[in-house]
Amino acid sequence: MAGEQWKSKIGFILAAAGSAIGLGAVWKLPYVAGTSGGGAFFLVFLVFTLLLGTSLLLAEFVIGRKTQKPPIQAYKELAPGTPWYWVGILGIISSCLILSFYAVVGGWILTYFIRSLTGGLTDPPEGNYGILFESIISNHWEVGAAHLGFIVITILIVQGGIQKGIERASSIMMPALFIIFIVLVVRSLTLDGAMEGVRFFLQPDLDSLDGQTILFALGQAFFSLSLGVSIMVTYSSYLSKKESLVRSASSIVGLSILIAFLSGLAIFPGVFAFDLEPNEGPSLIFTVLPAVFNEMALGSLFFTLFLLLLLFATLTSAFSLLEIVVSSVSHSNPGRRRIAAWAGGLGIFILGIPSNLSYGLLSEWLIFGDIFFNQIDFLVSNILLPVGALCIAVFASYFIKRSELREELLRGSSLGSGFFSTWLVLIRYITPLAIIAAFLHVLGVW
Ligand code: TRP
Repeated sequence: MAGEQWKSKIGFILAAAGSAIGLGAVWKLPYVAGTSGGGAFFLVFLVFTLLLGTSLLLAEFVIGRKTQKPPIQAYKELAPGTPWYWVGILGIISSCLILSFYAVVGGWILTYFIRSLTGGLTDPPEGNYGILFESIISNHWEVGAAHLGFIVITILIVQGGIQKGIERASSIMMPALFIIFIVLVVRSLTLDGAMEGVRFFLQPDLDSLDGQTILFALGQAFFSLSLGVSIMVTYSSYLSKKESLVRSASSIVGLSILIAFLSGLAIFPGVFAFDLEPNEGPSLIFTVLPAVFNEMALGSLFFTLFLLLLLFATLTSAFSLLEIVVSSVSHSNPGRRRIAAWAGGLGIFILGIPSNLSYGLLSEWLIFGDIFFNQIDFLVSNILLPVGALCIAVFASYFIKRSELREELLRGSSLGSGFFSTWLVLIRYITPLAIIAAFLHVLGVW
């Protein structure tokens, strides 16, 4: 039976933008930009997002909306009797792995948020937020409970379904996130010395571009649009045939870029105004930002707002990562949604326990020289996602009939053949080549 659909186009856009906008834009982009050349990194990221990210997003949309089915079933319908459905299976496995460590960071944010409400962040030991962060993330019971709490919130929303769960929650959380962002950017830009941070973030120093930076920017472009694991196939399978895919994709990409831009503007001016280092790495938002907020008037209020924003951004991404599992199981039998959400969510919680403990009990347990958390992140971001993205690009552009592709892509839009041909070149040649080049670089071939 045909399942549920998004109630409105704007609901779909907010939910999909909610999936895209998350730790990638608000946590990873600023720290990667901070460690790899500021503006130059951001510029390359923009180009990749606009050309390759948007093309791949459209490819996922075509697959999902054409079949109106979750990934495994969608690939089976489009290429019956072939092993392409493994791309769907790979996507589900990758999504579970992403959510397993995503929820750990979600738990840190939840703990920080609760502590910020109860005043537990104002007096760090020895005045050092780095020490506070370490002591919090190695406190198993606290971060374990927060990790579980984050997953349970995700389950409670996803079990409610598309309209009453994900669409409704995203329609509240995403506008709230935008408003909080604007408040924070205004605060940050009015700090004395803010311009130095703006310059660091926006003035590209092209000399600092190297293969590594370009590679990171490519991975970041795919990660921050939630591509490569068929999540956008899943979300677009609930979209009415009346809507234009191109218009929806432009709004989603536009919103994601806007947020990436606002994140940099909210974070770097403060870092520079208070003489802190932009290249702190993954803990940037947990160690540098509290110090920044601590220095400003009403700082603890602004920090609490920032954490709430981060929580919303992380949750709306987590919904999509759980939804792909739930939709695959409950597509033919919507009555199974609730049980699928609980079983999937709790299974992913258990899968995430080693990642959580890698900052405490298991910190000595190294796999190929690094802790479990980092290795899972590496496996997903640098191997599974690019492989998934490559397969989806190849599948859509070589294995779906040209006339069918064209019809689905352009349905409801006034664009013509020129647009279609450009898209096809991007998805058939340029995207696969860029991904293969990135791989060869990782392998040290060039
Ligand atoms: N895009 C989200 C972020 O930037 C994370 C995310 C959600 C994701 N779903 C995904 C990343 C699927 C890759 C694939 O934080």
